[in-house]
Amino acid sequence: MANMHNQIFNIQLKNNKRNFECSENDSILEGGLRHGLAMHYECSNGTCGACVAKLVDGDIKQIKHHDFILSDDQKNQGEFLMCCNAPTADVELELDLIGDVKSIAIQNIEIKVKKVSFINDNLAIITVRTPRSKTLQFMAGQDVELSFKGNTSRYPLASCPCHGMELEFHIRNMPEDAFATALFDKKIKSKSVIDLEGPKGIFVLKESSTRPMAFIAWDSGFAPIRSLVEHAFSLEMPNPVYFYWAYPADEQSPYLENHAKSWQVIMDDYTYTPIACKFDRSNKNDCQKVAKQIFNSLDLNIINQSDLYVSAPAEVLIYLGELLLENGLNESQLIASPI
Ligand code: FES
Repeated sequence: MANMHNQIFNIQLKNNKRNFECSENDSILEGGLRHGLAMHYECSNGTCGACVAKLVDGDIKQIKHHDFILSDDQKNQGEFLMCCNAPTADVELELDLIGDVKSIAIQNIEIKVKKVSFINDNLAIITVRTPRSKTLQFMAGQDVELSFKGNTSRYPLASCPCHGMELEFHIRNMPEDAFATALFDKKIKSKSVIDLEGPKGIFVLKESSTRPMAFIAWDSGFAPIRSLVEHAFSLEMPNPVYFYWAYPADEQSPYLENHAKSWQVIMDDYTYTPIACKFDRSNKNDCQKVAKQIFNSLDLNIINQSDLYVSAPAEVLIYLGELLLENGLNESQLIASPI
């Protein structure tokens, strides 16, 4: 327990080896999400009833009013809403966690742009907020569709579910991408309202795997890798983490390199390797050359023992995947996401 004013309690999940710590001032839902648990919830404010759990042992207190009405039967069974209750002792709970991407419904949410940061002429980082009453439920590594005045594109989320209402996207200025064009034409700016539909995709973490985790990103393919690594950290996964970040050699360094380096401080067993790739931007066939340069920079002794997550353009993925599978990687270890 931390101190007299802010006690911390242990929340144990029955039928599951998972447990997490939660302050007496936080709802059990907030505590669980912060520790990377994929919990069922929608509104976070006591309206929808999606966050029902059953108290098996210990004590809780209601910290928020809720409009959702639990039946007498539910109350007698010890059921309560996790978004409106905090622990007052160590507790044991019975609840269903989200098992896989199929159990998350597609959501349509109006989001508001909080900030647009232009990293250079053709890369922007956009931060948006969901309404407090409608947080996006997703698994780290997934993507969503964003629409602004009829311009729709699909992007991976760079944030982790543990970041709550704040979502981040890394967007390259591609002429064929109408949403990106609106962004770089400054039509999308702070306070703009955007429609979000998602989540989509199956680029998610193998949470129960004990293998080391190796991640390879090409340029802005860093976005979903960031989501996965930060989710692994919030889950306190002990697996060693190796991150290879390939980027165009004509840029000085990968665009958020300090962020990638800062993971060294929070993870005991983390290795970061930047890979500067020389290629001709005007020559589409150079994807093979890029794949070869990435492959030559990898430590195959590590890669072949790891779960390997790769986020890169489809053409690079095809060549790199072939090289890896020919050189000892088992197909079941490769998790790939085209950007
Ligand atoms: S999340 Fe809706 S009631 Fe708790």
